[in-house]
Amino acid sequence: MSTQHQIPSYLTPHEVGPWAVYLEQIDRVTPYLGSLSRWVETLKRPKRILVVDVPIERDDGSIAHFEGYRVQHNTSRGPGKGGVRFHQDVTLSEVMALSAWMTIKNSAVNVPYGGAKGGIRVDPKTLSRGELMRMTRRYTSEIGIIIGPDKDIPAPDVNTNEQTMAWMMDTYSMNEGRTATGVVTGKPISLGGSLGRREATGRGVYVVGCEAAAKRGLQIEGAKIAVQGFGNVGGIAARLFAEAGAKVVAVQDHLSSVYHPNGLDVNQLLAHVAETGSVAGFPGSEAVLVGDDFWGVDCDILIPAALEQQITEKNAHKIRASIILEGANGPTTPKADDILRDRGVLVVPDVIANAGGVTVSYFEWVQDFSSYFWSEDEINQRLTRIMKEAFSSVWHITEEKNVSLRTAAFIVGCSRVLQAREVRGLYP
Ligand SMILES: NC(=O)c1ccc[n+]([C@@H]2O[C@H](COP(=O)([O-])OP(=O)(O)OC[C@H]3O[C@@H](n4cnc5c(N)ncnc54)[C@H](O)[C@@H]3O)[C@@H](O)[C@H]2O)c1
Repeated sequence: MSTQHQIPSYLTPHEVGPWAVYLEQIDRVTPYLGSLSRWVETLKRPKRILVVDVPIERDDGSIAHFEGYRVQHNTSRGPGKGGVRFHQDVTLSEVMALSAWMTIKNSAVNVPYGGAKGGIRVDPKTLSRGELMRMTRRYTSEIGIIIGPDKDIPAPDVNTNEQTMAWMMDTYSMNEGRTATGVVTGKPISLGGSLGRREATGRGVYVVGCEAAAKRGLQIEGAKIAVQGFGNVGGIAARLFAEAGAKVVAVQDHLSSVYHPNGLDVNQLLAHVAETGSVAGFPGSEAVLVGDDFWGVDCDILIPAALEQQITEKNAHKIRASIILEGANGPTTPKADDILRDRGVLVVPDVIANAGGVTVSYFEWVQDFSSYFWSEDEINQRLTRIMKEAFSSVWHITEEKNVSLRTAAFIVGCSRVLQAREVRGLYP
């Protein structure tokens, strides 16, 4: 394709980034797709991309412009679904990759969605609350032409939360002239949010972590855990592992890495982060890890729960954990995957490990449509069942075909999407 053209297309991964990682993952699964591989190109092209300018008036009267994106990678199995990220490093190709991983994830855990993702290239910490609200509202209005409860349903991701979703829901509703609670998930409970949604991704990481540990004969009680990223996903996962008796020995965030060989007090660390915005300066840590030391820390389970491409060929050799649970999307590069597999490290891939969030988002969406809300116990039980079933079916394929858990999850995810594509047929 690209060889016929002088200038690279947006589809061409001309530098190694998340989109290139995703394309390589698709190439690795293609030999296992049988006759469906005829349709595989559809997975290498997002269905629809919207790039928007997001101008706001700043508090000092100046005008600022931000780059905004919404990518609908695939809608063969249902409406688009995926988070919205506010981060200074957001790019189109990153959002393309994140939307594609949502396609595979939603299919792998069998929720009736396609894959989508959105983002704004901004460091939200540099905005006042009023500026953040105006930016969120303008972005929502701009992407309003392609989102909707039965078209594409955003949710929180890095640096976005329940408040962001409330502003998005309100903006969409104002433009539509009706209250449309189902346009976003991860909303506050008072607006039709679901019990258990805030904790769902971390809880899912914990549930599949217990399943993976059982396969490896590792007891959770007393197991040593290291977590990169201590936000919604990493913070909750760490808390659940600590409650089950594990020792969270190291935590890294965007500013610092704290360490205690006997285990950090996770509740105190969460309170410290809520107060100061970072794990830096936590009085309960014995040492601060510098440079790459975090990756070589003595632990049984490592949970990357921050950003993409954190585990690479540069640090994969150092990792001492026997299990990696990908709370983040795309944290491990294909080269690192190979190194870890050779070393016998079990990597539970993002498309299974962090699927708890979208699973409870699905529950929230269903509850909004029926205006009938479930108890937290019901939600957690259903979530646990779906996560265990997804892990077990992927584990079965791993053994049957002697492939990594990632390739197995991609076999399940891609096959369902391409079956849907094939049976729908191409329009016109
Ligand atoms: N929120 C969800 O429901 C959800 C669902 C599935 C996957 N994810 C994925 O999980 C990851 C984290 O999302 P979140 O919602 O917890 O975000 P968050 O904004 O709540 O937390 C992000 C955390 O990562 C840390 N971080 C940022 N840059 C870092 C860096 N360079 N090095 C180390 N730490 C860094 C931040 O300090 C923070 O602790 C992302 O990859 C996201 O796509 C989130």
